[in-house]
Amino acid sequence: MTDQQHQSKEPDDILTNRQGHPVTNNQSVRTVGNRGPTTLENYDFLEKITHFDRERTPERVVHARGAGAHGYFQSYGTVNGEPISKYTRAKVFTNTNVQTPVFVRFSTVVHGGHSPETLRDPRGFAVKFYTEDGNWDLVGNNLKIFFIRDPLKFPDMVHSFHPDPVTNVQDPERMFDFLCQSPESAHMVTFLFSPWGIPANYRQMQGSGVHAYKWVNEEGNAVLVKYHWEPVQGIKNLTQKEADQIQMKDFNHATLDLYEAIDRSDYPEWELYVQLMEDGEHAELNFDPLDPTKLWYKEDYPWHKVGKMMLNKNPENYFTEVEQAAFGTGVLVDGLDFSDDKLLQGRTFSYSDTQRYRVGSNYLQLPINRPRKHVATNQEGGQMDFRTDFGSRQNPHVNYEPSLIGGLKEAVNPGKEHEPYVEGNVKREKISRENNFEQAGRTYRKFSDWERDELISNLVAALSSCRKEIQDRMVDIFANCDEDYGKRVAAGLQTAGAEKDTKMEAAVKQAEQLGHPSDPY
Ligand code: HEM
Repeated sequence: MTDQQHQSKEPDDILTNRQGHPVTNNQSVRTVGNRGPTTLENYDFLEKITHFDRERTPERVVHARGAGAHGYFQSYGTVNGEPISKYTRAKVFTNTNVQTPVFVRFSTVVHGGHSPETLRDPRGFAVKFYTEDGNWDLVGNNLKIFFIRDPLKFPDMVHSFHPDPVTNVQDPERMFDFLCQSPESAHMVTFLFSPWGIPANYRQMQGSGVHAYKWVNEEGNAVLVKYHWEPVQGIKNLTQKEADQIQMKDFNHATLDLYEAIDRSDYPEWELYVQLMEDGEHAELNFDPLDPTKLWYKEDYPWHKVGKMMLNKNPENYFTEVEQAAFGTGVLVDGLDFSDDKLLQGRTFSYSDTQRYRVGSNYLQLPINRPRKHVATNQEGGQMDFRTDFGSRQNPHVNYEPSLIGGLKEAVNPGKEHEPYVEGNVKREKISRENNFEQAGRTYRKFSDWERDELISNLVAALSSCRKEIQDRMVDIFANCDEDYGKRVAAGLQTAGAEKDTKMEAAVKQAEQLGHPSDPY
């Protein structure tokens, strides 16, 4: 019997419970008399309230606040005038006739699911490409570099940025306590406290894969590649004052901006650029090409336009699509590969691990996460297994491989395997070319005057509440990046210290002069 036969009897908009029973009274629980007590066989009420009690799944441990949209990506098929297949055999790039469907989730990082979108924070830019070879996730940020380069430090870094475990309030002192002992973060801190730390919205924001990945061609040869998204709408960042003004009235402005633009058919677009570098250690460089705290400068490694993405459909349901979306850096397709970047490898474990916990062991069966192609796997069971993609169609009894009596068979490798050679002692050590300050100094000098002024003023505001030892260490870091940078932060902190005492006295006086509230009770 099909759904259709049953559905014909009732109009679609009649309220039912999850068992399909029509609900005839949705206003009153069953009680003895109209004053209670309530009775325990209230099946409809119990089903309704117990489902409500379970409405929330754990939010993402980072990037909890987000907005998403559907669209497509189309490759131009060339890199710098050459066929893209010279570098990668990934069909999402070589096949220019296909519009690959995508789902994008933008996010802020530190605070919870309904926190203001005006906060100074990196922004997440995660793209799921539903390619003909299965899914590819490019899980990036708006900024092109990151705070740290070793994944072992990530939980400590996030704890220092998250609210204090006692007061539940974010505290710049905890944050700078960590950062002043992680000098590799100097470059990211320089971007974050400049206007680049508050993009005006998601549409006018860049994106970047941050890490070096690899492209692999038909012969199994690889090049290092970095990905960057450039908004066709242009880039817009906010000063702290502008962000404060928006936040006074609206703390959902970026979500609404994206939703409303798509709703009025003003579809946002981004062009995808890549930077390529020959695979190898590159001893001639004063930084390690796999270091995610470093930029590859445009003049040395030009940006090549390789495709365009358009977002043209809003989600139909926030929870099922945006909240349950699960992106991961391990989700690559043939022709795309990892580099040896340690941070990237640490991330690759973390994402699917957290998603099995956050969404559930069968998170890849959900419509937003499943590939838009046939899936044939011998994986079995687990909570909420609702497989529509059964293993072997020929012989469903065989859910293992290899088998002489049927079942699924291994695929043929579409090209020559990329087989990088590695050797070395196993050890716990920092990379040898740390060079923590030079690029941060250059970024400081490249900012426009107003951006530099903002940077200093934002850093001084945040550092003012930190103890002297932390301030001094941060000033040292900035001075190492650029003498003027260090001097200006130090001078700002001195002035702010003096002003703080005067302001405090004035605030106490003003409080004494104000009246008390009335007692309307
Ligand atoms: C989200 C871990 C570094 C971008 C997450 C989540 C975890 C995580 C556990 C939550 C995922 C979920 O619940 O679905 C890590 C670790 C890192 C790291 C361990 C370093 C060792 C980075 C870097 C970037 C980044 C360098 C940017 C290049 C993102 C984005 C999301 C995210 C965009 C949100 C994805 C979404 O919208 O669902 N990260 N992360 N992370 N991370 Fe990372």
